[in-house]
Amino acid sequence: MGGVNPYIDQPEVVTPTQTYKITFLPMNVTIEVDPEKFPYAHDGLPGSILDIALGNGIELDHACGGVCACSTCHVVIKEGVETLNEALEAEDDQLENAPDLKPTSRLACQSVPDGSADVVVEVPSWNRNLIQEPH
Ligand code: FES
Repeated sequence: MGGVNPYIDQPEVVTPTQTYKITFLPMNVTIEVDPEKFPYAHDGLPGSILDIALGNGIELDHACGGVCACSTCHVVIKEGVETLNEALEAEDDQLENAPDLKPTSRLACQSVPDGSADVVVEVPSWNRNLIQEPH
């Protein structure tokens, strides 16, 4: 799928003006994010955690194609949550369907860090089935 959902408001995002780092746990992969390269991939808001993950070989589940119409891209922000755009009601509505919600749970496709600090993201265990193990 990909693109944006025309039936919901779009979040107001502040795009980074400088590089910053995002670390994905538990695989402990750190990516230097370069806003000049947005969008990294096809799905999710440009510069979103999903966009960055997919464009750097981290396969987060994203059943609706990154348009805020499922909860499969649920991640937990461990550091840097204050740098993300605010979640809109549509995101909160979808998140309510995600298992194991935490206070800093977000939909990766709707969450765009502003780059003012580094970010650490934990991928829930039930969303790791697509991650490739090295052979
Ligand atoms: S991929 Fe469906 S809401 Fe993010």
